[in-house]
Amino acid sequence: MNRPLDGRVAIVTGAGRGIGRMTALLLAESGADVACVARTESELDEAARAIRSTDRRALSIRADVSDAGDVAAVAERALNEFGRVDILVNNAAVVSPLGPTVGVDMKEWSRAIEVNLVGVMRLTQLVLPGMLGRESGYIVNVSSGVAVGLGAMLGGNAYTTSKAALEAHTLNLAAELEGTGVKVNVLRPGTVDTAMQSWIRSQPGDDIGHELRQKFADLHAEGHLADPEKPARVIVDLMSSETTGQIVDVRAYFPD
Ligand SMILES: NC(=O)c1ccc[n+]([C@@H]2O[C@H](COP(=O)([O-])OP(=O)(O)OC[C@H]3O[C@@H](n4cnc5c(N)ncnc54)[C@H](OP(=O)(O)O)[C@@H]3O)[C@@H](O)[C@H]2O)c1
Repeated sequence: MNRPLDGRVAIVTGAGRGIGRMTALLLAESGADVACVARTESELDEAARAIRSTDRRALSIRADVSDAGDVAAVAERALNEFGRVDILVNNAAVVSPLGPTVGVDMKEWSRAIEVNLVGVMRLTQLVLPGMLGRESGYIVNVSSGVAVGLGAMLGGNAYTTSKAALEAHTLNLAAELEGTGVKVNVLRPGTVDTAMQSWIRSQPGDDIGHELRQKFADLHAEGHLADPEKPARVIVDLMSSETTGQIVDVRAYFPD
């Protein structure tokens, strides 16, 4: 049986759980071999096992995307073992630090920018030459609606700043690569039932702000959290399209 992504190789960051894990699995079910990247080895190994059960090859690569050496090792291992990278899904992110901006620890703020933005740029630079050489490639950067709905995440300054910059990075790169065969898009997943959401709900309102905590508790209680399969399915469908330079909002595909 021919599958749409047979013979392709993907790197998915944050593939240990949540949206990244489901994306890695659906990419494999569509025929791609997948290099799974995150820091928690047990989750990575589980994700890789699930991929191998679809008869595709999987790598479990423990790496911190904020670390330049780790990112270089990710690209090197994927290229050495799979020979090429056709698809890059930059999905790994942290939502912390949360809380009133005046009290935010600058080291934590900068770390969020390193994970959510700088790591994306580093990995992109490493896989782009191969994609350009083959005149073919697909990059999806996972953002959030908070990149524009800025009031939706009061006390989430690092997160919103990183996602807004990620979108600017993505659209600028897509314009630069127009006509090269390399397609680059933003994916806004909507609100999704993952560890990131449950972590926010578990934080004391005194630390992250009572309004923010209540907002996330309400999203959960009122059933507004989607299954990770929804954004993952949209990401995988994008790989078979000519779409580039777009901000793709999952909520447009699955209206309430
Ligand atoms: N869930 C939502 O409602 C929602 C809404 C809008 C946007 N998003 C975006 O969707 C993406 C996935 O989020 P999610 O909800 O699936 O989150 P999640 O369940 O917390 O998963 C995040 C993944 O990223 C990895 N990660 C975090 N920091 C990393 C680092 N420094 N280096 C390597 N990997 C790292 C985590 O693994 P380790 O901790 O083991 O490294 C994990 O595998 C993120 O970009 C997030 O901003 C989510």
